[in-house]
Amino acid sequence: MIDLSCKYLGLQLKNPLIIGSSGLTSSVENLKTIANMGAGAVVLKSIFEEQIKFETEKLINSDDPNIKSWQDAFNGIVGKNEYYHDEAYEYITNYAKEHSLKHYLTLVTEAKKAIDIPIIASIHCSTQYDWQYFAKRIQDAGADAIELNVYLLPSNFDKSSSEIEQVYFDIIKEVKKFITIPFSLKIGYYFSSLAQTALKLSETGIAGLTLFNRPYNPDIDINTLEVSSSNMYSSDLEYSHSLRWVALLSGKLKCNIAASTGIHNSETIIKQLLAGADAVQMVSLFYEKHFDVLPGIIKDIENWMTKHNFKSVSEFKGKLSHTNVHNPAAYERVQFIRLYSSIV
Ligand SMILES: Cc1cc2nc3c(=O)[nH]c(=O)nc-3n(C[C@H](O)[C@H](O)[C@H](O)COP(=O)(O)O)c2cc1C
Repeated sequence: MIDLSCKYLGLQLKNPLIIGSSGLTSSVENLKTIANMGAGAVVLKSIFEEQIKFETEKLINSDDPNIKSWQDAFNGIVGKNEYYHDEAYEYITNYAKEHSLKHYLTLVTEAKKAIDIPIIASIHCSTQYDWQYFAKRIQDAGADAIELNVYLLPSNFDKSSSEIEQVYFDIIKEVKKFITIPFSLKIGYYFSSLAQTALKLSETGIAGLTLFNRPYNPDIDINTLEVSSSNMYSSDLEYSHSLRWVALLSGKLKCNIAASTGIHNSETIIKQLLAGADAVQMVSLFYEKHFDVLPGIIKDIENWMTKHNFKSVSEFKGKLSHTNVHNPAAYERVQFIRLYSSIV
């Protein structure tokens, strides 16, 4: 009997396959399909503070009767006194924020009622106060855990690496004060010392790190001479970057690791587990293929385990991590020295 069950963020999962945060995880209908197809857990689409700001502006300019009546009420005093103007704007902004947040909280509560696999909500904020505010509200709505989607591009010439990295720690500190459910961080790889930062992050009490978020990729259209975007979805060859870091960090961090990016099939899932991942997250695959490929992927993992005489995931998880492998240097190598010299 094959046992795929595992623990991730303190939650019991029937298998380590998690459908990652995306538009695919923003409707109860899809979440039901995901659960029926056998996923171990799901990360809901992130609630983006930027999106809420955008929605707020839209709402302020809309025909919403509440907004209209407040605007009318404040119109008499706005302009006469800056204090009242600020107060009125804050009042309306808070109403709009609640309006947008309510949609997300409804998704969390409805999802909890509809499916029996763990639900991990996801947040991306731009101000420190809102990280903890959203996290608390989402916890109260019934999420099993929260993934904080923190991706800071260190492109500011005026900021040192430690100043930028401090932001991650400040967010964790704030969120920790307000919630008791487990939470993880989904990060990118732009750190001056990724290994040390990941270790320090894992020592803050977070339950997991997701390695890595896949950034929006800019491109240039040489016909229109405009900046555009490219490759919204990953390819099945993009997994080696996270594989390397999962292998290097596994067994060293004080929290779980979820591998993410470029995981499109059972072979890659097995590789990530061998490298030491506690779970894997998949997204792009399901934009290309229907969720009904999921049972086949799970079956293929079970067949591989049978073939190799593994009865549970714990019997092979981390077997090929940096710590356990007989040639750890393979994970640290960045130059193809021998390969280069053999190619003329
Ligand atoms: C259309 C789309 C929407 C996404 N939305 C989110 C999101 O809301 N929050 C988030 O943390 N990641 C989001 N992601 C990133 C994915 O969760 C995932 O980290 C990334 O796509 C890499 O995994 P993959 O190679 O399996 O696609 C999105 C990805 C795609 C393609």
